[in-house]
Amino acid sequence: MLVLGIETSCDETSAAVVEDKVFVRSNVVLSQTKLHEPFGGIVPEIASRKQMEFIAPVVKKAMEDAKVTWSDLDAIAVTNRPGLIGSLLVGVSFAKAIALAHNLPIIPINHLEGHVFSVFLRDMGESFEGHQLWDFPFLCLLVSGGHTELIWVKEVGDYEVLGRTKDDAAGEAFDKVARALGLGFPGGPAIDKVSEGGDPNAIAFPRADLTPTLNFSFAGLKTAVVRYLKGMEERLKRKSNPTLADIAASFQEAVADMLLNNLAKAAELTDAERVAVVGGVAANRRLRQKLMSLSQTQNWQLALPPLKWCTDNAAMIACAASFRMEKGLARSDLLFDAFAVAEINDS
Ligand code: KG4
Ligand code: ZN
Repeated sequence: MLVLGIETSCDETSAAVVEDKVFVRSNVVLSQTKLHEPFGGIVPEIASRKQMEFIAPVVKKAMEDAKVTWSDLDAIAVTNRPGLIGSLLVGVSFAKAIALAHNLPIIPINHLEGHVFSVFLRDMGESFEGHQLWDFPFLCLLVSGGHTELIWVKEVGDYEVLGRTKDDAAGEAFDKVARALGLGFPGGPAIDKVSEGGDPNAIAFPRADLTPTLNFSFAGLKTAVVRYLKGMEERLKRKSNPTLADIAASFQEAVADMLLNNLAKAAELTDAERVAVVGGVAANRRLRQKLMSLSQTQNWQLALPPLKWCTDNAAMIACAASFRMEKGLARSDLLFDAFAVAEINDS
């Protein structure tokens, strides 16, 4: 089975060809980060105009890299929710046009579901020897720029959200704190880099604990960092002088602690045998390090997709669609719409 995936929900234009549900034959990702950098964040109109400019060459390259023709494909999968509506509409319109022209089934996919399925992706020819194929059910911590959710993934299309952020998403907190620290956009990779060599225990930033729920909150932490920065002049006078690396590392540590705290509780609650951490923030090196040491003391198996599958990509969209097709859960007509806001269970 060969599925072409198309992902244009934000500022990445991506197309991928996935074989037999999980094997990535090609995955092209064109990021607009540099174009939005001067504005300190994503400008929606620029994002959609650039999607329109990039979509055709990106899809063409994905087909060439995979060495397939239109007649080799079994279906087209496209992200139709949630995301920037102008960006989503470009991918959806383009995918519908291809489906119509080549008489192919087209499957709309929820971006969050795509992230969850990134845990299954494998490079072509990657051996399974010594590794068990990932399986259901599993607990999934989805941490991206727009979402922070703990999801109990029972089966394809059967998801229970156990906890979610009540304010900022984890990635959003990284981006806002990076801006306050003058580190530019996107903030996650910048804080990750600057934290190297910093002392994660230099400043005891607050960790929100919303027990008895498994929800998250990052707004208080962000405010605490901003307040701390305002008091810097005083601190410099007193010669108590933490470095930028210390502040970044201490913030990063607080985010990682909050994520790990709820993840461990959710794993206990669900009696999970498998735990996956996916989404852009899962690329964070300190978080990965802490997750790996935590998993060694627990009786669950940890899956941390390689960095290329953590951030937005079309391979995860094609993968989710392939699993849906196999289960007979794939909608396939040209009538579907795109939605800026959607939950993982919205069909
Ligand atoms: O999943 P993603 O590519 O797009 C969304 O669906 O949002 O996630 C993007 C987010 C951004 O907020 C970015 O700052 C964050 O992921 N991010 C990171 C790292 N790399 C990307 N956050 C922390 N550490 C990183 N290394
Ligand atoms: Zn994403």
